[in-house]
Amino acid sequence: MPQATPTVPEKIRSSYSATPLREFFLASLKEIYWAEQEIMTGLKKLQKATSHPVLIRAFKDHEHDTRKHIARLEKVFEWLNEQPQAKKCLAMEGILKEADEIITQTAEGTATRDATLVIAARKVEHYEIACYGGLVAIAYTLGQDRMAGLLQKTLQDEEHTDLLLSEIAMHEINFKAPDEPDEPDQE
Ligand SMILES: [Fe+2]
Ligand SMILES: [Fe+2]
Repeated sequence: MPQATPTVPEKIRSSYSATPLREFFLASLKEIYWAEQEIMTGLKKLQKATSHPVLIRAFKDHEHDTRKHIARLEKVFEWLNEQPQAKKCLAMEGILKEADEIITQTAEGTATRDATLVIAARKVEHYEIACYGGLVAIAYTLGQDRMAGLLQKTLQDEEHTDLLLSEIAMHEINFKAPDEPDEPDQE
C-alpha cells in the first residue's frame, strides 16, 4: 500500500513517536471526543424532559461546560499534531440509551422522572470522571504536563457537576417522589 503523505514534520512526529500507551491515550481521546458530542445532545434531551427549573439550569450549565470540554479535547489533539477524530464509545452509548429509556418510562412533570434523570446524568458524569481521571494520569506518565493540566480542568467540571446533581436530588427532588402514585394523571 502506498504510504500516506506525512502531515506533520518528522521532527515533531518523532518527539511523540507511537508506543502502545501513547496509542491507547490517543484512542481514549477519540472515544471521549465522541462521547462529549453525544452528551451535548443528551443534555438537550434532559432539559426538555424535566420541568424542574433548578435541574434545567444545571443541565443547561453543563451543556455550556461540555462545549468547553470539546474545545479542550481539540486543543489536545492539536498539541499531539493529530486531527480531532471521534470514535464511537460503546459505554457512553449505553449510558445515554438508558437515559432515553427513563424518559419513555416515566411520566412528564413527576419527581420520579426528575429523580431518575439525575441518576442517569450522574452515570454520565461518573463515566466521564473515570475517563478523564485516566487520561490525566496517562498524560502525566507520558510527560505531557500541559495536556494533563487542561484535561484536569474538565475532570474538575465533571466532578463538580456530579456533586451538584447529587445535592439537587437530595434537597429539591427525591423527597417528593416516594408518595407519587403509580399512574399519575396525564391531564
Ligand atoms: Fe464532559
Ligand atoms: Fe459531563
